[in-house]
Amino acid sequence: DPIQPPDLTKCGPASVTTTGPTVQCCPPFKGPDNIIDFKLPSPRERVRTRPAAHLVDKAYIKKYERAIQLMRSLPDDDPRSFKQQADVHCAYCNGAYDQIGFPETGLQVHFSWIFFPFHRLYLYFFERILGKLIDDPTFALPYWNWDSPPGMNMPAIFTDPNSPLYDPIRNPTHSDPSFMLDLDWSREDIVVSPEEQIKSNLNLMNTQMVSGAKKRTLFFGTPLKAGDAAANTGQGSIERSPHMNIHIWTGDPKQAHTEDMGNFYSAGRDPIFYCHHANVDRMWDLWKTLGPRRTDFTDPDWLEAAFVFYDEDKNLVRCKVKDCLDSRKLNYDYQKVPLPWLDTKR
Ligand code: C2O
Repeated sequence: DPIQPPDLTKCGPASVTTTGPTVQCCPPFKGPDNIIDFKLPSPRERVRTRPAAHLVDKAYIKKYERAIQLMRSLPDDDPRSFKQQADVHCAYCNGAYDQIGFPETGLQVHFSWIFFPFHRLYLYFFERILGKLIDDPTFALPYWNWDSPPGMNMPAIFTDPNSPLYDPIRNPTHSDPSFMLDLDWSREDIVVSPEEQIKSNLNLMNTQMVSGAKKRTLFFGTPLKAGDAAANTGQGSIERSPHMNIHIWTGDPKQAHTEDMGNFYSAGRDPIFYCHHANVDRMWDLWKTLGPRRTDFTDPDWLEAAFVFYDEDKNLVRCKVKDCLDSRKLNYDYQKVPLPWLDTKR
């Protein structure tokens, strides 16, 4: 059976680590009557084109900053507030929910085939809330183009301490945009020449997207069905690396749990999280263009898996994986840029 959406009335404390402290990150919830089923946006809406973060202009930055600022200033109990949006990740990833009918098993949206669809839907609502706050129905999140040399650093728009896009709880060394991102980073800076770094990053991307992702389970991760406990052996190629590595690369190693980006409970507190995940999401679209066998699963246990999110009008919406397979139907797309990793290995 497919993974069921959580029962929000049974949300409990979330664990920062398996043995460590717990935190409270449950959403405000007013009872089951206001749950509605997901509907695709009207096809008459203008397409939202998500830009590469290093290519945006001043006008875009101002708009994006204003939207995040407005989201930050909503009251903490508003489900559209920045705090609540960050807590969505904590609740779904640090064990705040049990699976319905399996009180022993927590709901975990990483380490399996639900990783891509869960995060796609999460960003979809986050983006629409921002657009609504600035009254711009075309507003689109930027993506961190880490798969291409000009994106292999922390995007400069996030590094101005006076900007609402800034988060002080990051690795200070990596917050200098001239410091290169190592997509395979493992908690130690090994500085090599830019040419070497680019080469190893592009080779990793080629392995994760092309040569090492020929089968669905290799790319998406392994099946997770109702009652299953997720284990990190189930991760798909991109989720494992560079997705995880970039989380830890961005977080502050001096914090107990590599906050903010380096732990699921706190990752959503950094605005860069949504930019990172936009590129992860972009990889799903790109992967499907790389060959005839690179298609979505057809197993109903995947298609019918469901989650709930608050939308831009504070409705609680029940969404299924099958609702989100085609980003164009969700009315967004990605700015086209070169894909230098396509042919690095022959
Ligand atoms: Cu839900 Cu990047 O992790």
